[in-house]
Amino acid sequence: AAAPEIEITRPVRSFTAPNDLKEPVEERIPAVPLRSKVWFNNPDDVNEITDLNRPLIGIAQTGSDLTPCNKHHLQLARRVRDGIIAAGGTPIEFPCHPIQEGTKRPSATLDRNLAYLSLVEVLYGYPLDGVVLLSGCDKTTPALLMAASTVNIPSIVMNVGPMLNAYAGSELVGSGTVVWNAREALASGRITRDQAMQQVALSAPSVGHCNTMGTASTMNALAEALGMALPGSSSIPAVYRERGACAYQTGRRIVDLVRQDVKPSDILTKDAFENAIAVCTAIGGSTNAPIHLNALAKHIGVQLNCDDWERIGYNLPLLLNVQPAGAYLCEEYHRAGGLPAVVWELLNADKLPHPDALTLTGRSISENCKTDQTNSPHVIFPFEKPLRPNAGFLHLKGTLFNSAIMKTSVISQAFTDQYLSNPTDPMAFEGPVAIFNGPEEYDAELEHRKDIGANSILIMRGAGPIGYPGAAEVVNMHAPGRLIKQGIVLPCIGDGRQSGTSGTPSILHASPEAAAGGMLGYLKDGDWVRIDLKNRSADVRLTPEEIAQRKKEMGLYPYPAAQTPWQEMYRESVGDLSEGMILKKAVKFQRIAQNFGV
Ligand code: FES
Ligand code: MG
Repeated sequence: AAAPEIEITRPVRSFTAPNDLKEPVEERIPAVPLRSKVWFNNPDDVNEITDLNRPLIGIAQTGSDLTPCNKHHLQLARRVRDGIIAAGGTPIEFPCHPIQEGTKRPSATLDRNLAYLSLVEVLYGYPLDGVVLLSGCDKTTPALLMAASTVNIPSIVMNVGPMLNAYAGSELVGSGTVVWNAREALASGRITRDQAMQQVALSAPSVGHCNTMGTASTMNALAEALGMALPGSSSIPAVYRERGACAYQTGRRIVDLVRQDVKPSDILTKDAFENAIAVCTAIGGSTNAPIHLNALAKHIGVQLNCDDWERIGYNLPLLLNVQPAGAYLCEEYHRAGGLPAVVWELLNADKLPHPDALTLTGRSISENCKTDQTNSPHVIFPFEKPLRPNAGFLHLKGTLFNSAIMKTSVISQAFTDQYLSNPTDPMAFEGPVAIFNGPEEYDAELEHRKDIGANSILIMRGAGPIGYPGAAEVVNMHAPGRLIKQGIVLPCIGDGRQSGTSGTPSILHASPEAAAGGMLGYLKDGDWVRIDLKNRSADVRLTPEEIAQRKKEMGLYPYPAAQTPWQEMYRESVGDLSEGMILKKAVKFQRIAQNFGV
Protein backbone atom coordinates (compact mmCIF):
# COMPACT_ATOMS: atom_id res chain seq x y z
CA ALA A 1 0.00 0.00 0.00
CA ALA A 2 1.21 3.52 -0.75
CA ALA A 3 2.02 5.66 2.24
CA PRO A 4 -0.91 7.77 3.30
CA GLU A 5 -0.14 11.40 2.66
CA ILE A 6 1.06 13.31 5.67
CA GLU A 7 -0.70 16.54 6.23
CA ILE A 8 0.30 19.00 8.87
CA THR A 9 -3.19 19.72 9.97
CA ARG A 10 -2.49 21.89 12.93
CA PRO A 11 0.61 23.68 14.08
CA VAL A 12 2.54 21.89 16.76
CA ARG A 13 1.49 23.83 19.81
CA SER A 14 2.76 24.22 23.29
CA PHE A 15 1.06 21.92 25.68
CA THR A 16 -1.02 24.00 28.01
CA ALA A 17 -2.75 22.77 31.09
CA PRO A 18 -6.21 23.93 32.12
CA ASN A 19 -6.57 27.49 33.47
CA ASP A 20 -7.09 26.72 37.09
CA LEU A 21 -3.52 25.47 37.30
CA LYS A 22 -1.92 28.83 36.62
CA GLU A 23 -0.73 29.93 40.03
CA PRO A 24 0.68 27.63 42.64
CA VAL A 25 -0.76 28.52 46.00
CA GLU A 26 1.84 27.37 48.40
CA GLU A 27 0.05 28.75 51.41
CA ARG A 28 -3.21 27.14 50.50
CA ILE A 29 -4.47 24.99 53.32
CA PRO A 30 -4.70 21.40 52.16
CA ALA A 31 -8.17 19.87 52.28
CA VAL A 32 -6.86 17.30 54.75
CA PRO A 33 -3.60 17.27 56.73
CA LEU A 34 -0.74 16.11 54.56
CA ARG A 35 -0.01 12.43 54.99
CA SER A 36 3.71 13.17 55.16
CA LYS A 37 3.23 15.77 57.84
CA VAL A 38 1.27 13.45 60.07
CA TRP A 39 3.81 10.72 59.41
CA PHE A 40 6.72 12.69 60.79
CA ASN A 41 4.97 14.28 63.69
CA ASN A 42 3.06 13.54 66.77
CA PRO A 43 -0.51 13.90 65.59
CA ASP A 44 -1.25 16.07 68.63
CA ASP A 45 1.36 18.63 67.60
CA VAL A 46 0.70 18.87 63.90
CA ASN A 47 0.07 22.58 63.96
CA GLU A 48 3.36 23.40 65.61
CA ILE A 49 5.37 22.17 62.67
CA THR A 50 5.50 24.68 59.86
CA ASP A 51 8.29 23.43 57.61
CA LEU A 52 6.54 20.32 56.37
CA ASN A 53 3.89 22.05 54.35
CA ARG A 54 5.42 21.06 51.03
CA PRO A 55 3.76 17.89 49.80
CA LEU A 56 6.13 15.00 49.11
CA ILE A 57 5.43 13.85 45.58
CA GLY A 58 6.67 10.50 44.36
CA ILE A 59 7.74 10.09 40.76
CA ALA A 60 7.30 6.43 39.83
CA GLN A 61 10.11 6.02 37.31
CA THR A 62 9.61 3.21 34.80
CA GLY A 63 12.37 4.19 32.39
CA SER A 64 15.60 2.18 32.40
CA ASP A 65 17.97 0.37 30.07
CA LEU A 66 15.76 -2.68 30.52
CA THR A 67 12.63 -0.78 29.51
CA PRO A 68 13.70 1.24 26.47
CA CYS A 69 10.10 2.09 25.52
CA ASN A 70 9.94 4.17 28.70
CA LYS A 71 13.57 5.26 28.79
CA HIS A 72 12.84 8.83 27.70
CA HIS A 73 11.16 9.25 31.09
CA LEU A 74 14.68 9.52 32.56
CA GLN A 75 14.80 12.93 30.81
CA LEU A 76 11.15 13.85 31.19
CA ALA A 77 11.27 13.28 34.95
CA ARG A 78 13.40 16.42 35.28
CA ARG A 79 10.57 18.46 33.85
CA VAL A 80 8.11 16.74 36.15
CA ARG A 81 10.35 17.68 39.08
CA ASP A 82 10.47 21.30 37.93
CA GLY A 83 6.68 21.39 37.80
CA ILE A 84 6.36 19.87 41.25
CA ILE A 85 8.82 22.33 42.76
CA ALA A 86 7.19 25.30 40.99
CA ALA A 87 3.85 24.34 42.51
CA GLY A 88 5.31 24.06 46.00
CA GLY A 89 5.97 20.34 46.32
CA THR A 90 9.07 18.24 46.89
CA PRO A 91 9.78 15.62 44.21
CA ILE A 92 10.98 12.16 45.22
CA GLU A 93 11.87 9.96 42.26
CA PHE A 94 12.17 6.20 42.68
CA PRO A 95 12.49 3.20 40.33
CA CYS A 96 9.74 0.74 39.51
CA HIS A 97 10.13 -2.92 38.62
CA PRO A 98 10.87 -2.95 34.86
CA ILE A 99 8.34 -4.45 32.44
CA GLN A 100 9.56 -4.64 28.85
CA GLU A 101 6.92 -5.97 26.53
CA GLY A 102 9.01 -7.51 23.77
CA THR A 103 11.79 -8.97 25.88
CA LYS A 104 10.58 -10.33 29.18
CA ARG A 105 10.24 -14.10 29.36
CA PRO A 106 8.04 -15.98 29.63
CA SER A 107 5.71 -12.97 29.34
CA ALA A 108 5.69 -9.30 30.25
CA THR A 109 2.23 -9.65 31.77
CA LEU A 110 3.67 -11.97 34.41
CA ASP A 111 5.36 -8.86 35.79
CA ARG A 112 2.33 -6.58 35.72
CA ASN A 113 1.13 -7.92 39.05
CA LEU A 114 4.66 -7.98 40.44
CA ALA A 115 5.22 -4.31 39.57
CA TYR A 116 1.79 -3.65 41.06
CA LEU A 117 2.69 -5.33 44.36
CA SER A 118 6.01 -3.56 44.52
CA LEU A 119 4.53 -0.12 43.89
CA VAL A 120 1.78 -0.72 46.47
CA GLU A 121 4.51 -1.30 49.06
CA VAL A 122 6.35 1.87 48.07
CA LEU A 123 3.28 4.11 48.01
CA TYR A 124 1.93 2.67 51.23
CA GLY A 125 5.17 2.33 53.10
CA TYR A 126 6.77 5.71 52.49
CA PRO A 127 5.41 9.13 53.45
CA LEU A 128 4.28 10.18 50.00
CA ASP A 129 1.37 12.58 49.60
CA GLY A 130 0.87 11.98 45.89
CA VAL A 131 2.50 10.30 42.95
CA VAL A 132 3.22 10.88 39.28
CA LEU A 133 2.94 7.62 37.37
CA LEU A 134 5.36 7.62 34.43
CA SER A 135 3.64 5.23 32.05
CA GLY A 136 4.34 4.01 28.53
CA CYS A 137 5.03 0.43 27.46
CA ASP A 138 2.00 -1.85 27.58
CA LYS A 139 1.87 -3.20 31.11
CA THR A 140 3.52 -0.27 32.83
CA THR A 141 0.34 1.81 32.62
CA PRO A 142 -2.06 -0.70 34.20
CA ALA A 143 0.51 -1.82 36.80
CA LEU A 144 1.01 1.74 38.03
CA LEU A 145 -2.67 2.65 37.97
CA MET A 146 -3.65 -0.54 39.78
CA ALA A 147 -1.19 0.21 42.59
CA ALA A 148 -2.24 3.84 42.87
CA SER A 149 -5.83 2.62 43.12
CA THR A 150 -5.15 0.11 45.87
CA VAL A 151 -3.31 2.70 47.94
CA ASN A 152 -5.53 5.59 46.82
CA ILE A 153 -3.29 8.60 47.27
CA PRO A 154 -3.61 11.46 44.75
CA SER A 155 -2.13 10.21 41.49
CA ILE A 156 -1.63 11.38 37.93
CA VAL A 157 -0.55 9.42 34.86
CA MET A 158 1.97 10.73 32.38
CA ASN A 159 2.75 8.79 29.25
CA VAL A 160 6.23 8.75 27.70
CA GLY A 161 4.57 9.29 24.30
CA PRO A 162 4.68 7.29 21.09
CA MET A 163 7.61 7.05 18.69
CA LEU A 164 7.62 9.17 15.56
CA ASN A 165 6.28 7.82 12.26
CA ALA A 166 8.38 5.07 10.74
CA TYR A 167 8.81 4.27 7.06
CA ALA A 168 10.13 1.46 4.90
CA GLY A 169 10.61 3.28 1.63
CA SER A 170 7.43 5.29 1.27
CA GLU A 171 5.34 2.88 3.32
CA LEU A 172 4.37 3.59 6.91
CA VAL A 173 5.58 0.72 9.08
CA GLY A 174 3.92 0.60 12.47
CA SER A 175 5.39 -1.01 15.58
CA GLY A 176 4.31 -4.59 16.01
CA THR A 177 1.88 -4.52 13.12
CA VAL A 178 4.87 -4.72 10.77
CA VAL A 179 6.00 -7.86 12.57
CA TRP A 180 2.71 -9.69 12.00
CA ASN A 181 2.57 -8.61 8.35
CA ALA A 182 6.22 -9.51 7.73
CA ARG A 183 5.73 -12.88 9.40
CA GLU A 184 2.97 -13.79 6.96
CA ALA A 185 4.84 -12.41 3.96
CA LEU A 186 7.86 -14.48 4.97
CA ALA A 187 5.80 -17.66 5.45
CA SER A 188 4.31 -17.29 1.97
CA GLY A 189 7.70 -16.55 0.39
CA ARG A 190 6.90 -12.96 -0.67
CA ILE A 191 9.90 -11.53 1.19
CA THR A 192 13.19 -12.87 2.51
CA ARG A 193 14.16 -13.16 6.13
CA ASP A 194 16.56 -10.24 5.76
CA GLN A 195 13.82 -8.06 4.31
CA ALA A 196 11.50 -8.99 7.16
CA MET A 197 14.15 -8.13 9.74
CA GLN A 198 14.87 -4.83 8.04
CA GLN A 199 11.22 -3.79 7.99
CA VAL A 200 10.93 -4.55 11.67
CA ALA A 201 14.09 -2.61 12.51
CA LEU A 202 12.89 0.42 10.56
CA SER A 203 9.68 0.53 12.55
CA ALA A 204 11.44 1.96 15.63
CA PRO A 205 12.72 5.38 14.54
CA SER A 206 12.94 7.26 17.85
CA VAL A 207 12.52 7.06 21.58
CA GLY A 208 8.99 6.40 22.75
CA HIS A 209 6.51 3.55 22.92
CA CYS A 210 4.92 1.73 19.97
CA ASN A 211 3.52 4.14 17.40
CA THR A 212 0.50 2.01 16.50
CA MET A 213 -2.75 1.75 18.48
CA GLY A 214 -1.29 -1.23 20.28
CA THR A 215 -1.60 -1.82 23.99
CA ALA A 216 0.76 1.03 24.95
CA SER A 217 -1.15 3.71 23.00
CA THR A 218 -4.46 2.17 24.05
CA MET A 219 -3.76 2.05 27.76
CA ASN A 220 -2.47 5.61 27.81
CA ALA A 221 -5.45 6.83 25.81
CA LEU A 222 -7.74 5.06 28.27
CA ALA A 223 -5.90 6.51 31.27
CA GLU A 224 -6.73 9.91 29.76
CA ALA A 225 -10.32 8.87 29.00
CA LEU A 226 -10.69 7.72 32.59
CA GLY A 227 -9.69 11.21 33.70
CA MET A 228 -6.32 10.22 35.19
CA ALA A 229 -4.05 12.10 32.73
CA LEU A 230 -4.12 15.69 31.51
CA PRO A 231 -6.42 16.17 28.48
CA GLY A 232 -4.54 15.85 25.21
CA SER A 233 -1.46 14.44 26.91
CA SER A 234 -1.45 10.77 25.96
CA SER A 235 -0.76 11.08 22.21
CA ILE A 236 2.07 13.65 22.25
CA PRO A 237 5.03 11.96 20.52
CA ALA A 238 7.92 11.30 22.88
CA VAL A 239 10.33 13.68 21.17
CA TYR A 240 7.97 16.64 20.65
CA ARG A 241 8.64 19.76 22.66
CA GLU A 242 5.06 19.56 23.87
CA ARG A 243 5.97 16.35 25.69
CA GLY A 244 8.34 18.26 27.97
CA ALA A 245 5.74 20.94 28.60
CA CYS A 246 3.26 18.22 29.44
CA ALA A 247 5.73 16.75 31.95
CA TYR A 248 6.06 20.15 33.63
CA GLN A 249 2.29 20.71 33.79
CA THR A 250 1.78 17.19 35.11
CA GLY A 251 4.20 17.95 37.94
CA ARG A 252 2.29 21.11 38.78
CA ARG A 253 -1.07 19.43 38.66
CA ILE A 254 -0.22 16.63 41.09
CA VAL A 255 0.61 19.20 43.78
CA ASP A 256 -2.83 20.75 43.36
CA LEU A 257 -4.46 17.33 43.44
CA VAL A 258 -2.78 16.71 46.79
CA ARG A 259 -3.89 20.06 48.16
CA GLN A 260 -7.42 19.44 46.95
CA ASP A 261 -7.29 15.81 48.14
CA VAL A 262 -8.49 14.42 44.82
CA LYS A 263 -7.81 10.70 44.92
CA PRO A 264 -8.13 7.92 42.31
CA SER A 265 -11.38 6.81 43.95
CA ASP A 266 -12.90 10.23 43.15
CA ILE A 267 -12.17 9.78 39.45
CA LEU A 268 -12.20 6.04 38.77
CA THR A 269 -15.95 5.59 39.05
CA LYS A 270 -18.11 3.19 37.09
CA ASP A 271 -19.01 6.14 34.85
CA ALA A 272 -15.36 6.76 34.06
CA PHE A 273 -14.85 3.12 33.12
CA GLU A 274 -17.88 3.18 30.83
CA ASN A 275 -16.51 6.26 29.09
CA ALA A 276 -13.19 4.49 28.63
CA ILE A 277 -14.92 1.49 27.04
CA ALA A 278 -16.68 3.76 24.54
CA VAL A 279 -13.40 5.48 23.74
CA CYS A 280 -11.67 2.11 23.31
CA THR A 281 -14.03 1.21 20.46
CA ALA A 282 -13.65 4.60 18.79
CA ILE A 283 -9.85 4.34 18.75
CA GLY A 284 -9.76 0.66 17.75
CA GLY A 285 -8.06 -0.14 21.04
CA SER A 286 -6.12 -3.23 22.02
CA THR A 287 -7.66 -6.52 23.11
CA ASN A 288 -5.53 -6.19 26.23
CA ALA A 289 -7.64 -3.24 27.35
CA PRO A 290 -10.48 -5.31 28.86
CA ILE A 291 -7.96 -7.33 30.87
CA HIS A 292 -6.27 -4.27 32.33
CA LEU A 293 -9.36 -2.15 32.88
CA ASN A 294 -11.23 -5.04 34.49
CA ALA A 295 -8.23 -5.47 36.78
CA LEU A 296 -8.06 -1.77 37.60
CA ALA A 297 -11.78 -1.74 38.36
CA LYS A 298 -11.34 -4.61 40.80
CA HIS A 299 -8.62 -2.76 42.69
CA ILE A 300 -10.62 0.45 42.98
CA GLY A 301 -13.79 -1.43 43.90
CA VAL A 302 -15.91 -0.94 40.76
CA GLN A 303 -17.94 -3.81 39.26
CA LEU A 304 -16.87 -4.24 35.64
CA ASN A 305 -16.84 -7.28 33.38
CA CYS A 306 -16.72 -8.33 29.74
CA ASP A 307 -20.50 -8.04 29.41
CA ASP A 308 -20.07 -4.31 30.14
CA TRP A 309 -17.51 -4.14 27.35
CA GLU A 310 -19.92 -5.56 24.82
CA ARG A 311 -22.96 -3.65 26.16
CA ILE A 312 -21.26 -0.27 25.97
CA GLY A 313 -18.60 -0.77 23.36
CA TYR A 314 -19.81 -3.12 20.65
CA ASN A 315 -22.35 -0.90 18.90
CA LEU A 316 -20.07 2.09 18.67
CA PRO A 317 -18.06 2.82 15.53
CA LEU A 318 -14.35 2.91 14.82
CA LEU A 319 -13.33 6.54 14.28
CA LEU A 320 -9.55 6.59 14.48
CA ASN A 321 -7.67 5.69 11.31
CA VAL A 322 -4.55 4.32 12.96
CA GLN A 323 -2.93 0.89 12.57
CA PRO A 324 -3.71 -1.94 13.16
CA ALA A 325 -7.40 -1.17 12.46
CA GLY A 326 -6.57 1.80 10.18
CA ALA A 327 -3.79 3.27 8.07
CA TYR A 328 -1.87 5.95 9.97
CA LEU A 329 0.33 6.03 13.05
CA CYS A 330 0.17 7.98 16.30
CA GLU A 331 1.98 11.07 15.01
CA GLU A 332 -1.01 11.83 12.75
CA TYR A 333 -3.38 10.90 15.56
CA HIS A 334 -1.77 13.54 17.72
CA ARG A 335 -1.71 16.17 14.99
CA ALA A 336 -5.37 15.47 14.34
CA GLY A 337 -6.18 16.44 17.91
CA GLY A 338 -5.44 13.31 19.91
CA LEU A 339 -7.89 11.81 22.33
CA PRO A 340 -9.89 15.03 23.00
CA ALA A 341 -10.84 15.13 19.32
CA VAL A 342 -12.05 11.52 19.47
CA VAL A 343 -14.03 12.32 22.61
CA TRP A 344 -15.45 15.39 20.86
CA GLU A 345 -16.94 13.15 18.14
CA LEU A 346 -18.56 10.91 20.74
CA LEU A 347 -19.87 13.91 22.67
CA ASN A 348 -21.22 15.59 19.56
CA ALA A 349 -23.13 12.42 18.65
CA ASP A 350 -24.38 12.11 22.22
CA LYS A 351 -22.60 8.77 22.48
CA LEU A 352 -20.20 9.33 25.33
CA PRO A 353 -22.01 7.45 28.11
CA HIS A 354 -21.19 9.92 30.91
CA PRO A 355 -20.17 13.40 29.75
CA ASP A 356 -20.25 14.65 33.34
CA ALA A 357 -17.63 12.25 34.69
CA LEU A 358 -15.03 14.11 36.76
CA THR A 359 -11.41 14.22 35.61
CA LEU A 360 -8.28 15.34 37.40
CA THR A 361 -8.52 18.79 35.85
CA GLY A 362 -11.35 19.30 38.32
CA ARG A 363 -13.71 19.49 35.39
CA SER A 364 -15.81 16.96 33.53
CA ILE A 365 -14.57 15.13 30.46
CA SER A 366 -17.07 17.03 28.30
CA GLU A 367 -15.80 20.39 29.58
CA ASN A 368 -12.24 19.29 28.85
CA CYS A 369 -12.98 18.31 25.25
CA LYS A 370 -15.81 20.58 24.16
CA THR A 371 -13.74 22.67 21.74
CA ASP A 372 -11.55 19.91 20.35
CA GLN A 373 -13.18 19.07 17.04
CA THR A 374 -10.60 17.69 14.61
CA ASN A 375 -9.77 19.34 11.35
CA SER A 376 -8.35 16.06 10.03
CA PRO A 377 -11.40 13.93 9.23
CA HIS A 378 -9.22 11.49 7.30
CA VAL A 379 -7.50 10.59 10.59
CA ILE A 380 -10.35 11.02 13.08
CA PHE A 381 -13.48 10.14 11.14
CA PRO A 382 -16.78 11.89 11.86
CA PHE A 383 -19.17 9.83 13.97
CA GLU A 384 -21.82 9.86 11.20
CA LYS A 385 -19.32 8.56 8.63
CA PRO A 386 -17.10 6.22 10.62
CA LEU A 387 -14.37 3.91 9.38
CA ARG A 388 -16.62 1.01 10.33
CA PRO A 389 -19.77 0.60 12.42
CA ASN A 390 -20.18 -1.82 15.35
CA ALA A 391 -16.48 -1.97 16.03
CA GLY A 392 -16.26 -3.01 19.67
CA PHE A 393 -15.50 -6.34 21.30
CA LEU A 394 -17.90 -9.25 21.19
CA HIS A 395 -18.20 -11.32 24.34
CA LEU A 396 -18.58 -15.00 23.47
CA LYS A 397 -19.66 -17.86 25.71
CA GLY A 398 -20.45 -21.54 25.25
CA THR A 399 -19.23 -25.06 25.87
CA LEU A 400 -15.74 -24.04 24.71
CA PHE A 401 -15.31 -21.45 27.47
CA ASN A 402 -17.27 -19.24 29.86
CA SER A 403 -15.79 -16.08 28.40
CA ALA A 404 -13.71 -14.95 25.45
CA ILE A 405 -13.57 -11.76 23.42
CA MET A 406 -13.22 -10.95 19.75
CA LYS A 407 -12.09 -7.58 18.39
CA THR A 408 -14.37 -6.78 15.47
CA SER A 409 -12.65 -3.62 14.23
CA VAL A 410 -9.88 -5.73 12.65
CA ILE A 411 -12.11 -8.21 10.77
CA SER A 412 -10.72 -8.06 7.24
CA GLN A 413 -12.60 -8.37 3.97
CA ALA A 414 -10.87 -11.72 3.37
CA PHE A 415 -12.08 -12.99 6.76
CA THR A 416 -15.61 -11.75 6.07
CA ASP A 417 -15.65 -13.37 2.63
CA GLN A 418 -14.50 -16.71 3.97
CA TYR A 419 -16.37 -16.96 7.24
CA LEU A 420 -19.11 -14.37 7.57
CA SER A 421 -20.77 -14.48 4.13
CA ASN A 422 -22.84 -17.63 4.23
CA PRO A 423 -26.23 -16.37 2.94
CA THR A 424 -28.27 -18.51 5.33
CA ASP A 425 -26.07 -17.95 8.36
CA PRO A 426 -23.86 -14.90 7.77
CA MET A 427 -22.53 -14.51 11.27
CA ALA A 428 -21.50 -18.12 11.93
CA PHE A 429 -18.74 -20.48 10.89
CA GLU A 430 -17.61 -23.95 11.87
CA GLY A 431 -14.88 -26.45 11.21
CA PRO A 432 -12.46 -29.01 12.64
CA VAL A 433 -9.88 -27.79 15.12
CA ALA A 434 -6.11 -28.03 14.75
CA ILE A 435 -4.55 -27.72 18.18
CA PHE A 436 -1.24 -26.25 19.28
CA ASN A 437 0.02 -26.75 22.83
CA GLY A 438 1.79 -23.44 23.27
CA PRO A 439 3.68 -21.14 20.90
CA GLU A 440 6.79 -23.33 20.72
CA GLU A 441 4.76 -26.19 19.26
CA TYR A 442 3.08 -23.81 16.83
CA ASP A 443 6.43 -22.44 15.61
CA ALA A 444 7.92 -25.91 15.22
CA GLU A 445 4.97 -27.74 13.67
CA LEU A 446 2.69 -25.38 11.75
CA GLU A 447 4.28 -25.88 8.34
CA HIS A 448 4.37 -29.68 8.74
CA ARG A 449 0.76 -30.15 9.78
CA LYS A 450 -0.99 -31.94 6.92
CA ASP A 451 -4.31 -31.97 8.79
CA ILE A 452 -4.75 -28.20 8.51
CA GLY A 453 -7.12 -27.33 5.68
CA ALA A 454 -9.07 -24.39 4.36
CA ASN A 455 -11.86 -24.81 6.95
CA SER A 456 -9.67 -25.53 9.98
CA ILE A 457 -9.95 -23.53 13.15
CA LEU A 458 -6.60 -23.06 14.90
CA ILE A 459 -6.54 -23.56 18.65
CA MET A 460 -3.79 -22.25 20.93
CA ARG A 461 -3.91 -23.66 24.46
CA GLY A 462 -1.62 -23.69 27.44
CA ALA A 463 -1.09 -19.97 26.89
CA GLY A 464 -3.16 -18.58 29.77
CA PRO A 465 -2.14 -16.92 33.03
CA ILE A 466 -1.28 -20.26 34.69
CA GLY A 467 -0.25 -22.33 31.67
CA TYR A 468 2.27 -19.83 30.31
CA PRO A 469 2.69 -17.75 33.38
CA GLY A 470 1.28 -14.29 32.72
CA ALA A 471 -0.49 -15.41 29.51
CA ALA A 472 1.40 -15.29 26.22
CA GLU A 473 0.56 -12.99 23.31
CA VAL A 474 0.41 -15.83 20.83
CA VAL A 475 -3.17 -16.55 19.81
CA ASN A 476 -2.88 -14.56 16.58
CA MET A 477 -1.65 -17.47 14.48
CA HIS A 478 -1.58 -17.65 10.72
CA ALA A 479 -2.29 -20.45 8.25
CA PRO A 480 0.57 -22.60 6.88
CA GLY A 481 2.38 -20.97 3.96
CA ARG A 482 0.74 -23.34 1.42
CA LEU A 483 -2.69 -21.97 2.42
CA ILE A 484 -1.62 -18.32 2.70
CA LYS A 485 -0.50 -18.59 -0.93
CA GLN A 486 -4.12 -19.41 -1.81
CA GLY A 487 -5.28 -16.35 0.10
CA ILE A 488 -6.71 -18.36 2.98
CA VAL A 489 -6.93 -16.96 6.48
CA LEU A 490 -7.84 -19.21 9.38
CA PRO A 491 -9.76 -18.29 12.52
CA CYS A 492 -7.88 -18.60 15.80
CA ILE A 493 -9.12 -19.36 19.29
CA GLY A 494 -6.95 -19.46 22.37
CA ASP A 495 -6.65 -19.18 26.12
CA GLY A 496 -3.85 -16.62 25.79
CA ARG A 497 -3.70 -13.07 24.50
CA GLN A 498 -2.59 -11.40 21.32
CA SER A 499 -0.57 -8.30 20.73
CA GLY A 500 -2.59 -5.11 20.59
CA THR A 501 -0.75 -4.34 17.36
CA SER A 502 -2.16 -7.42 15.65
CA GLY A 503 -4.89 -7.04 13.06
CA THR A 504 -6.20 -10.60 13.52
CA PRO A 505 -9.81 -11.08 14.65
CA SER A 506 -8.85 -13.93 16.97
CA ILE A 507 -11.04 -15.24 19.78
CA LEU A 508 -8.97 -14.52 22.85
CA HIS A 509 -8.71 -14.93 26.61
CA ALA A 510 -10.73 -18.16 26.70
CA SER A 511 -11.55 -18.48 30.38
CA PRO A 512 -11.11 -20.67 32.26
CA GLU A 513 -7.84 -21.52 30.54
CA ALA A 514 -6.83 -25.11 29.73
CA ALA A 515 -4.48 -25.22 32.72
CA ALA A 516 -7.38 -24.27 35.03
CA GLY A 517 -9.70 -26.97 33.68
CA GLY A 518 -11.17 -25.08 30.71
CA MET A 519 -12.63 -27.04 27.79
CA LEU A 520 -9.81 -26.10 25.40
CA GLY A 521 -7.64 -28.46 27.44
CA TYR A 522 -9.90 -31.41 26.60
CA LEU A 523 -10.17 -30.88 22.85
CA LYS A 524 -8.67 -33.30 20.36
CA ASP A 525 -7.52 -32.52 16.82
CA GLY A 526 -10.47 -32.77 14.46
CA ASP A 527 -13.16 -31.93 17.04
CA TRP A 528 -15.85 -29.86 15.37
CA VAL A 529 -16.34 -26.32 16.65
CA ARG A 530 -19.02 -23.79 15.77
CA ILE A 531 -18.78 -20.04 16.36
CA ASP A 532 -21.97 -18.01 16.08
CA LEU A 533 -21.25 -14.31 16.40
CA LYS A 534 -24.91 -13.36 16.26
CA ASN A 535 -25.71 -15.47 19.29
CA ARG A 536 -22.29 -14.80 20.83
CA SER A 537 -21.73 -18.52 21.19
CA ALA A 538 -18.76 -20.86 20.80
CA ASP A 539 -19.43 -24.56 21.07
CA VAL A 540 -17.82 -27.91 20.48
CA ARG A 541 -19.89 -30.66 18.93
CA LEU A 542 -19.68 -33.07 21.85
CA THR A 543 -22.46 -34.25 24.15
CA PRO A 544 -22.23 -33.47 27.88
CA GLU A 545 -21.52 -37.18 28.41
CA GLU A 546 -18.68 -37.11 25.90
CA ILE A 547 -17.25 -34.02 27.59
CA ALA A 548 -17.43 -35.67 31.00
CA GLN A 549 -15.73 -38.76 29.58
CA ARG A 550 -12.95 -36.64 28.04
CA LYS A 551 -12.30 -34.89 31.33
CA LYS A 552 -12.03 -38.22 33.12
CA GLU A 553 -9.75 -39.75 30.57
CA MET A 554 -7.48 -36.77 29.88
CA GLY A 555 -7.12 -35.20 33.34
CA LEU A 556 -6.10 -31.60 33.98
CA TYR A 557 -4.12 -30.04 31.14
CA PRO A 558 -0.42 -30.36 32.02
CA TYR A 559 1.80 -27.31 32.20
CA PRO A 560 5.51 -26.94 32.90
CA ALA A 561 6.79 -26.43 36.42
CA ALA A 562 7.45 -22.90 37.64
CA GLN A 563 10.94 -21.63 36.89
CA THR A 564 11.05 -18.84 39.48
CA PRO A 565 9.57 -18.23 42.93
CA TRP A 566 7.34 -15.49 41.56
CA GLN A 567 5.88 -17.78 38.86
CA GLU A 568 4.90 -20.23 41.57
CA MET A 569 3.29 -17.58 43.80
CA TYR A 570 1.61 -15.99 40.80
CA ARG A 571 0.04 -19.26 39.69
CA GLU A 572 -1.33 -19.88 43.17
CA SER A 573 -3.19 -16.58 43.28
CA VAL A 574 -3.95 -15.42 39.75
CA GLY A 575 -7.50 -15.19 38.39
CA ASP A 576 -8.85 -15.69 34.86
CA LEU A 577 -8.05 -13.36 31.97
CA SER A 578 -11.73 -12.48 31.72
CA GLU A 579 -11.54 -11.16 35.27
CA GLY A 580 -8.41 -9.12 34.66
CA MET A 581 -5.81 -11.68 35.70
CA ILE A 582 -5.53 -10.04 39.10
CA LEU A 583 -4.01 -11.55 42.21
CA LYS A 584 -7.15 -12.73 43.94
CA LYS A 585 -5.60 -12.21 47.36
CA ALA A 586 -4.89 -8.54 46.61
CA VAL A 587 -8.43 -7.36 45.93
CA LYS A 588 -9.53 -7.15 49.57
CA PHE A 589 -6.93 -4.44 50.16
CA GLN A 590 -8.68 -1.27 49.08
CA ARG A 591 -7.91 2.41 49.66
CA ILE A 592 -5.27 1.50 52.19
CA ALA A 593 -3.52 4.86 52.52
CA GLN A 594 -6.23 5.94 54.92
CA ASN A 595 -5.12 3.26 57.40
CA PHE A 596 -2.08 5.34 58.21
CA GLY A 597 -2.37 7.84 61.01
CA VAL A 598 -4.54 10.54 59.58
FE1 FES B 1 6.96 -1.26 24.63
FE2 FES B 1 5.37 -1.54 22.40
S1 FES B 1 6.96 -2.84 23.14
S2 FES B 1 5.44 0.02 23.87
MG1 MG C 1 2.10 -6.34 23.40
